[in-house]
Amino acid sequence: MPTTTPASAASPRQWNPNSWRDCPVRQLPTYPDEAKLQDMEARLGKYPPLVFAGEARRLKAHLALASEGKAFVLQGGDCAESFSDFTANIIRDTFRVLLQMSVVLTFGASLPVVKMGRMAGQFAKPRSSDNETQGEVTLPSYRGDIINGPEFTPSARIPDPARMEFGYFQSAATLNLLRAFSSGGYADLHEVHRWNLDFAKRSPLAARYQDLAGRIDETLSFMAACGMTSATTRDLRETDFYISHEALLLPYEQALARVDSTTGHWYGCSAHFLWIGDRTRQADGAHVEFLRGLQNPLGMKVGPSQDPDDLLKLLDILNPRNEAGRITLISRMGADKVASKLSPLVRAVERSGHKVVWLCDPMHGNTISTQAKVKTRNFDSILGEVRGFFDVHAAEGTWAGGVHVEMTGQDVTECIGGAHRLSEADLGERYETFCDPRLNAEQSLELAFLVAEELKRRRQLIVAPALAAQ
Ligand code: PEP
Ligand code: CO
Repeated sequence: MPTTTPASAASPRQWNPNSWRDCPVRQLPTYPDEAKLQDMEARLGKYPPLVFAGEARRLKAHLALASEGKAFVLQGGDCAESFSDFTANIIRDTFRVLLQMSVVLTFGASLPVVKMGRMAGQFAKPRSSDNETQGEVTLPSYRGDIINGPEFTPSARIPDPARMEFGYFQSAATLNLLRAFSSGGYADLHEVHRWNLDFAKRSPLAARYQDLAGRIDETLSFMAACGMTSATTRDLRETDFYISHEALLLPYEQALARVDSTTGHWYGCSAHFLWIGDRTRQADGAHVEFLRGLQNPLGMKVGPSQDPDDLLKLLDILNPRNEAGRITLISRMGADKVASKLSPLVRAVERSGHKVVWLCDPMHGNTISTQAKVKTRNFDSILGEVRGFFDVHAAEGTWAGGVHVEMTGQDVTECIGGAHRLSEADLGERYETFCDPRLNAEQSLELAFLVAEELKRRRQLIVAPALAAQ
């Protein structure tokens, strides 16, 4: 059982959808036209929800399994979706790579993989500085397409509430296509596996991957011989896919919160899973206050500045009944800090009895700036943080529940390294992100294959001694 103060003592205020407005708030834009903002909130408040509460409950049940070591989680997508990169191909390609990664991980973990896209609503960005200066000119920072525009002009940088409506409709159309792909035949396991075989053949590390790909191939043939094919088995031709984003823009999130008619509880209906960023996780802050009142499964980023006692306080506030699947902690320490910073947090959470899923975000603690001042991430540091994350959990006897990555299905050149050895000099070729550098399709799959190998190796370390003891 949780040992720290219960939520009622830690946070005496009555929750209502507006209660966050009385709390200190970080990272929200100041809209110059308050009346326009209120009109937009009222308008979005009448629009249909994007997701149904029952779906969020189903996801919570899957995440509960991950908290018990019975599932692995894959969460991925753009750092920031954009209004200009809104095409069927881009959505399809990201979805396809996530499916490919998930097949490889399912095999590595021998467990179901819970799939969540940073998609269909990942528009609002926290920024380390309120302003951006280029030459002699200083303008407000770009905060994501749902808030202002990326162009470096005074008019583009003015926060405009009308952008929330674009964001809503783009999320609806993206989710519609994802739902169609998930159940309309595109997610067929045999197809996904064929794409992986193609990848494994093309990769400079072909020999290494072909072994794993070949064993998946054998398994599928064996299942087909037993009569389990896409035609006979729904789970082979369809998949569950959930959407998620950082719940940063509270006026938008509040406008899309709804009371679920079957339970009478509030749900955030802009996505199945909402997370709190590393910069907005203050126990007395507006983001924590708003999200504690929603029944969705929630994520929270934990970076190197997270104090263990504060984390327990946050868990008491966000999950006072200690419900499994409710909280996913997304660790983003940096490859060099994961061992020292994550261990005390894992230990404190474990001792408190709080049930959580631990995910590794190996991206946000490993951002570096090149000599030419381009933001990038090194594939080796990304992999290094994932390995460090597994090591911490192995040492603490806890379950390393999954990975959270910034990636795209496009062939971009934003992160350095990987089997194709992208260098700093290559970054200029296709550097297309609107915010942080993403793994491209090949790097994402490579990461999945390497994580799968790691999962398998660790599974054998556990299984082999157990069998020997029998
Ligand atoms: C993000 O996920 O894009 C992000 C801003 O992360 P963090 O809150 O961990 O910095
Ligand atoms: Co990011």
